[in-house]
Amino acid sequence: MSNNVKVKFAVVGAGHIGKRHAEMILREPEAELVALVDCRSKTECDAEKFDVPFLSSIEELLESDLEFDVVNVCTPNGLHASQSLKALEQKKHVVCEKPMGLSKDSCEKIIFKALQVSRQVFCVMQNRYSPPSEWIQSIITDGVLGDIYMVQLNCYWNRDDRYYKKGGWKGTKDMDGGTLYTQFSHFIDIMYWLFGDIDNIQGKFKDFNHKNTTDFEDSGFVSFDFINGGMGSLNYSTAVSNQNLESSMTIIGENGSVKIGGQYMNEVEICNIKGYDMPKLKESNPANDYGPYKGSAANHNYVISNVIDGIKGRKSPTTNALEGLKVVEIIERIYKVRNENQKRDE
Ligand SMILES: NC(=O)c1ccc[n+]([C@@H]2O[C@H](COP(=O)([O-])OP(=O)(O)OC[C@H]3O[C@@H](n4cnc5c(N)ncnc54)[C@H](O)[C@@H]3O)[C@@H](O)[C@H]2O)c1
Repeated sequence: MSNNVKVKFAVVGAGHIGKRHAEMILREPEAELVALVDCRSKTECDAEKFDVPFLSSIEELLESDLEFDVVNVCTPNGLHASQSLKALEQKKHVVCEKPMGLSKDSCEKIIFKALQVSRQVFCVMQNRYSPPSEWIQSIITDGVLGDIYMVQLNCYWNRDDRYYKKGGWKGTKDMDGGTLYTQFSHFIDIMYWLFGDIDNIQGKFKDFNHKNTTDFEDSGFVSFDFINGGMGSLNYSTAVSNQNLESSMTIIGENGSVKIGGQYMNEVEICNIKGYDMPKLKESNPANDYGPYKGSAANHNYVISNVIDGIKGRKSPTTNALEGLKVVEIIERIYKVRNENQKRDE
């Protein structure tokens, strides 16, 4: 696609995050928002300000005469894989909100189809653009920390009745899939991006205060080995009272240690590496703000601009479909341990 042609987007799912995609598309001079799609009405979605055709299903969109290059899949998790496949079948590029799917198999089908029709799939993992993430990725890639001994991820968030509403998709097995898919896949993505794949997974899981609101655990202690060396743990919970407590990553390496913290890993709290001076980093964008509760970094502007660069052949996707699949596959393996524990304890 030539540089002076606008990339045309249709956004499917006009909820919190779909409207953010739409907003970011409108702000990009090289992008055009062609349509919004949602099974609720435009008014129910509070999407009146978007002056574009509003359709009620992805099927209606794909059968319409509208011209567009990209479908942004911003619906509940359980619909990502099937809707991404439908868009690819009509030879559209796909931007898929996290997680790419709720099973490795469904993600593999997307990759197979994308290769078959020569279209790109961009997964949304916008925390990668936060200055501490970019910085830690560069020093890990350059080997500044030497061998990695231990990595600890702590993700302690609040998600209570203000978040899990009766009749909604959040908290359901089929449409949400689990705490690791919806709340913490960003952190698993960063861990995989930095240190690669994991093995020898062990875990303890518990549902402390979500028995009436979700179909799954709210907390877990998970430990594993990294295939590339070193060991790690992921400690997570959505049972924290009132507000998010922490999202942090502590890395113990041969040459020193680093702790990245803040509510969504937006601050370097400790950098203590032999012979290395910490550079001054840019300010992080604030967290997505959903009123009473906070989400991950508000970096969707970078996502949309990467999609435009990718489609115009200027850059490769920041998070490609293989990486999207890998995060899903890691979560699936962690949940396999949880399911085996449940069976054992029955
Ligand atoms: N990248 C991030 O940081 C981030 C943050 C929040 C949410 N998300 C992801 O974005 C997705 C949406 O989350 P949200 O918070 O916007 O949820 P939401 O409930 O606010 O929005 C989902 C929208 O999809 C619509 N929808 C449901 N079924 C549909 C269908 N079959 N066809 C068309 N529309 C349909 C709903 O009516 C709703 O408007 C989820 O997968 C979530 O994991 C990502």
